[in-house]
Amino acid sequence: MTLLAAATAVRENAYVPYSRFKVGAAIRAVSGAIHVGCNVENAAYPEGTCAEAGAIAAMIAAGDTRIAEVCVIADSPEPVPPCGGCRQKIAEFADQSVVVTLHTTDGLSRAMTVADLLPGVFTAAHMDRT
Ligand code: THU
Repeated sequence: MTLLAAATAVRENAYVPYSRFKVGAAIRAVSGAIHVGCNVENAAYPEGTCAEAGAIAAMIAAGDTRIAEVCVIADSPEPVPPCGGCRQKIAEFADQSVVVTLHTTDGLSRAMTVADLLPGVFTAAHMDRT
């Protein structure tokens, strides 16, 4: 299964009674395994989680820790970029050169690197003096 097919399939399971905006995300880990996630909303709105966060949680739960590639898909006029929090979450597990491809359900796509998404990222290296 391609990463796009995995993201497209999991998007159908998104729990989005509040926004009605379904998002699917798929991560290919360096191991080659694919991990997927969808957004899961909550009546207490800030408790909702993004598709990317779900895919990262699935990756970690499966025992992988490094991201080789990310794919995100939503039904949007243009490819939807990950939110700020998800950019930081992706950067925790991905090199700066990792490609994140953003897709719309009607076939538009845009490829960005992790460096494009979050210039000047805060990393563990910034705490080296502690
Ligand atoms: N959302 C994601 O899951 N990923 C993104 O990259 C952008 C936004 C979700 C969060 C919320 O459930 C809905 O989209 C509207 O913000």
